[in-house]
Amino acid sequence: MTLGSLQREMGAQLQAAGIGTAKLDARLLLQHAIGKDHAHLVGHYNDQVPDSQLALAQAVLARRLAFEPVSRIVGCREFYGLEFAITPDVLDPRPDSEVLVDAALQAGRLMSSRGRGLAVAEAGVGSGALIISVLMQLCDATAIASDVSPAALRIARDNAVRWGVDDRLKLVRCSWLDGVEDDVDLIISNPPYIKSGELERLSPDVRNYDPVLALDGGDDGLVAYRSLVPAAYAKLRDGGGLCVEVGAGQANGVWTLFERSGFRPHGTLKTQVCDLAGHVRVVRGWKTQV
Ligand SMILES: C[S@@+](CC[C@H](N)C(=O)[O-])C[C@H]1O[C@@H](n2cnc3c(N)ncnc32)[C@H](O)[C@@H]1O
Repeated sequence: MTLGSLQREMGAQLQAAGIGTAKLDARLLLQHAIGKDHAHLVGHYNDQVPDSQLALAQAVLARRLAFEPVSRIVGCREFYGLEFAITPDVLDPRPDSEVLVDAALQAGRLMSSRGRGLAVAEAGVGSGALIISVLMQLCDATAIASDVSPAALRIARDNAVRWGVDDRLKLVRCSWLDGVEDDVDLIISNPPYIKSGELERLSPDVRNYDPVLALDGGDDGLVAYRSLVPAAYAKLRDGGGLCVEVGAGQANGVWTLFERSGFRPHGTLKTQVCDLAGHVRVVRGWKTQV
């Protein structure tokens, strides 16, 4: 069998299983199986596939047919133009969270104009995709990021080393912001926000592969925000900002928590930021009106 015919066969099987991204997935899985990039694959469609690679391709295809996400199978995910290692211990970073990075960078760049390196914190770092993306863009910023999962902290460390920001990122095992010192300029978080009762109804590619610790937001989905938002207010310096990701329909409830803690809207930046589909993804507030 040639590489080209194997790719078509894999795509047909994925399509028959109802996987919407069948063709793309077939290509990515085949590239993974043969250990080559897209350009190599295109240039070698007529090559015969060695038995060892055929077996590997069939094995990864079987995993995808069981609805394991491609990123889980290949062990990495592209986020904000960077590749991040992921393992079963961390949330697979979602493209939607790039809105949080954009919202944080917009706030951070305004603050950077004050002429000193920003102190940034992330609560619930997971793979590190968010805070590392922020540090890659804000070159004089330093950051501290927390997680309760030691395994997640190890992945975040590896990813920080890979992108050369490990000297600017301190990783701490603690609950939310407990291990963070006062006087932070900017805090970001994508906490778990799925209602406990909805976890069972999530699609299998989420339910079976993302850690519950990264998903479960308690009875109403807002449990993490109730700890995190007042703690963030206490850690921020005057003029500092908090940017959090929210789930569908949660923006107003989360903003109420912001207001109760003392957060105020910014003079020019929006309090709610939408994703490309028009859903509110991010809520932002400031420690004093700026
Ligand atoms: C939705 S995931 C976000 C991960 C990563 N920031 C991202 O967006 O890809 C939430 C993260 O919060 C962590 N977490 C859960 N409870 C926590 C707590 N009490 N304190 C700190 N982190 C916690 C989980 O382990 C998980 O890594």
